[in-house]
Order: sequence, then structure tokens, then C-alpha cells
Amino acid sequence: MSSTDLNSSTEPLRAEAQPVGLFETPIAYGRLKEAETLMADLEQTIRTRMAKDEGLSRSNIGAWHSDTDMLDWGGEAAQRLAQAAVNIAKRMSHFKESSVEDRDWLVRMWANVTPEGGLNHLHSHPGNLWAAVLYIDMGNEPGESEQEVGGHLYLEDPRFPMAAMRDTSFRMMGVNGQPQQYQSEIQLQRGNLIVFPAWLRHGVRPFKGKRERISIAMNIDARLKV
Ligand SMILES: [Fe+2]
Repeated sequence: MSSTDLNSSTEPLRAEAQPVGLFETPIAYGRLKEAETLMADLEQTIRTRMAKDEGLSRSNIGAWHSDTDMLDWGGEAAQRLAQAAVNIAKRMSHFKESSVEDRDWLVRMWANVTPEGGLNHLHSHPGNLWAAVLYIDMGNEPGESEQEVGGHLYLEDPRFPMAAMRDTSFRMMGVNGQPQQYQSEIQLQRGNLIVFPAWLRHGVRPFKGKRERISIAMNIDARLKV
């Protein structure tokens, strides 16, 4: 069929179409409750650790990234946070012919402290089921919004770049009637705990605040008990 055929004045065939969304990407956008003391404890622990440890270099640019053993040095607050994240991960998990309780749930945890100009390149967390992040301080000054200081977490459509192989302006319409973007930014505040599939590529936009931005990241995996 040529394009001329499509532009003909023939009466178009009418059709009804019902959009259906398949292959969901589950993302838990949570908020810790009554956790001010816990977050203050975590921040104190992180600052103490940062004062005596150089940290690691990963996807982070210009930020301090602790080692991934925070469950060993983070005390009871870190243990409680890990349990909260695992409970969310369990609710989003299913295993054929067994239960989430038939598995040991394993967590690696680390802290990120980001000064002005810091960012995280697009990356994923291979070898895990879920990734999680708790936001302790968005780095905004009093009277300044979280949006103004940047540092937004963004998630990449895992089907990218399939849909843009020929025309980069193309977007698929979602079941909500809106064009689906290749990257989605998440609006975050202190106390937000987000859990998403570990294979979902994500990054952090440049942080522009004058204070430091503090978050705690986790890798969550599950292994069949032996
Ligand atoms: Fe990450």
C-alpha cells in the first residue's frame, strides 16, 4: 500500500479500539511513617561514617558513596529500613510453585551524600530482583522547594529505544491518553521510599542545592532456602 492509497477519499472503515496496557513495570512509591527519629539516627550514622571513610566510586559523580555494608554499621535503624523495603518487595513479588516466604531475602545497603553539582549516570543494579532508595534529605534550603534544587530520580522506559528506531519524535499513546515519555522523573520528598525492578535503568539529574542531599540505596535479592 502506498501513502497515496491512505490519502484517498474513500469512506473509511469504522472500528472500535480499546487500549489495553500489558507488561506492567511495578514501582512502589512509598513514604515511611513516624520515622523522624529513625531518619535522624540514619543521618548521624552516615555522617560519622563519611568522616572516616573515603567511600566508593560507582555511578555517582561528585558524591560520597559509602561501602555496601551499611547493614553491618548502620545499627538497628538500618535493619528496620531494610525490613521495610523487603516487605514492599515481597508484596510485588511472586514465585511459581513456592512462596516469598520460602526464600531468604538479601539486602546490600549503602549511603549517598551529594553536594552541589553531583549526579548519577543512567545505570541498573544487575544480579538483583529489586532496587530501593530512601530519601533522608533532598538538600533544599528552608523556603526552597525540592523541585528547585534538582537531583531528581529519573527512570527510563525499558522498551527504549525500540519505539524510536526510525523516527525519534514518535511516542506511543498510553492507556491514560497521554504520550509515553522515554524517561519519567519522580517527585520525591524526605521520607519517600521507592522500590523498583533492579533491571530498570535510572539515574539522578544534576543536584543544584547549596546543602547536601542524602539518600540510602538498597539492592534486594531472594534466594530459595536450602
Ligand atoms: Fe541506582
